Amino acid sequence: MRRLVVSPAQGPLAGRNRPPGDKSVSQRAAILGGLARGKTVIHGFLDSDDAASTLSAMEQLGARVERGGAGRVDIHGGALQAPASPLDLGNSGTGLRLLAGVLAGHPDLVGQRIELTGDESLSSRPMARIIDPLTLMGARITSRDGRCPLVIEPAPLRGSSHTLKMASAQVKSAILLAGMFAQGSTRVIEPGHSRDHTERMLPRFGVAAQRLPNGAAITGPQSLKGAEISVPGDPSSAAFIMAAAALVAGSSVQLDNVGLNPTRSGFFSLLQAMGARVDIQPDASEGDEPVGAVHVQAAPLRGIEVSQAQVPAAIDEFPLLMALAAVAEGKTVIRGAAELRVKECDRIAVMCAQLARLGVDVQELEDGAIVTGGAVNGGVVESHGDHRIAMSFAVLGLAAEKPIAVENAGWIATSYPGFVDDLRALGADLAWA
Ligand code: S3P
Repeated sequence: MRRLVVSPAQGPLAGRNRPPGDKSVSQRAAILGGLARGKTVIHGFLDSDDAASTLSAMEQLGARVERGGAGRVDIHGGALQAPASPLDLGNSGTGLRLLAGVLAGHPDLVGQRIELTGDESLSSRPMARIIDPLTLMGARITSRDGRCPLVIEPAPLRGSSHTLKMASAQVKSAILLAGMFAQGSTRVIEPGHSRDHTERMLPRFGVAAQRLPNGAAITGPQSLKGAEISVPGDPSSAAFIMAAAALVAGSSVQLDNVGLNPTRSGFFSLLQAMGARVDIQPDASEGDEPVGAVHVQAAPLRGIEVSQAQVPAAIDEFPLLMALAAVAEGKTVIRGAAELRVKECDRIAVMCAQLARLGVDVQELEDGAIVTGGAVNGGVVESHGDHRIAMSFAVLGLAAEKPIAVENAGWIATSYPGFVDDLRALGADLAWA
C-alpha cells in the first residue's frame, strides 16, 4: 500500500479546518436508521471506509440507502431480512460489535443464520467481550475461538445486568442494542465512563435509554421511528490537526464544528496540560451532541503523567499523544491503558517499536508506556494497518529533524480520507510516494 512522506515544517501552520464527520456517531446513525421505521436523514455522515462498511451492511440487511452529496444520507429502514452473503465489516470494530448486538435478538431475523466477518486486523480482535454478555441474554453466537467470523442465529432475548471489566462503548452499545429487542430491563455498569453516543442518539429515534453515571440502561422491547441526525465533526480526527498546530512553532489554527462530547474530549485537556494553547468555544445550539470551535496555538510542549481515569475519554488519541511526547520536554508516563493493545493493532507495542526506530527513548509497560522527549530523527515507520498510527507519525514528521516516511499509510482512509489534503491546506508538506 501507499507510502506517505512528511517533511519537517518550514514555517507555521495557519488557517481553518472543518473535521470530517464523527466515525462513532456516523456508524450509530447508519445502524439505527436502518432499524427505524420510515425515513432517517443524516447530515454530515463520514465519508470513510469504516462508515461505508457499516452502511453497506445495513443495506444488505434490507435498508434502502440514498447517498446524497456533502455528507447527506437518507435511509429507509424498519424491516430487516437475512443477507444473501456474510456481512463484511472490514476494519470496523464498532460496526461489527454493534451489529452483533442488534442481530442477536432482532425479531425479524429469528430462525435465520447470519455471518459477520472482517479484515485481518478485525479478525484478530477479541469478541468474547460481546459474545459472553449477549449469550447470557439468550443469544446464540459461535466464533472462531472468540474471534471473527461470528455466526449469529437470532433468538428471543431476556434483559439482564452486566458489569464490564473494561470501559468499552462498543461492548456497552452491543448490550444496549440487544436489550432494545429483549424482554425486560438491561443494565450495563462500566469501570470508567466510555463514549455515550448510543445513549444520546436512541431517544432521537423514539427509544428511551437511561444514561447512568457509570453506565446505561434500557427496557425492551422497543421500536424505532425514523429521525433526523446531525453528525458532529470527529474530535478524534480533529486531534491530529490540533496536535500539528500545537507542535509547529508559531502556528495558529481554528477548527469548526468539532464534537465536544465530554466522553470524547479528554485529549483536549491532555494537550492543554502539555502546554499548548487550546481555546474551546461551544456553539450556542444544543443538539444531542455538543459541538463548537477549537482554536489551537503552538507552544513548547512538556511531558505529562496520564492516569487510568483519564484514559476512556482519550482512548483513540494515545498513539498521537505518544508521538507528541517524543518531542515534548521531559517524560510522559501513560498507565491504565491496556485496552490499547486490542485496537486496530497493539497500539502500545507498535508505537513503542516505531518510535524506537526514529531514535526516541521509549519504555513499553504492560498497560502503557514511558516516553522521554527530545529531538526526533527522520526515518521510516510502518502503520501496521492502523489509521491512527499512520496519522500520528505524519504529525510527528512535521517536528522531526528529517522527513518521516510512513509505510502503508493508505489506511488513513479508515477514518479520515481528507487528512493529507487538510494538513496541506494549512501549509504542511506531505507527499504520497
Ligand atoms: C468506539 C469505541 C472505542 C473506540 C473506537 C470506537 C465506538 O472502542 O476505541 O474507536 O464507536 O464505540 P472500545 O469500545 O473498544 O473502547
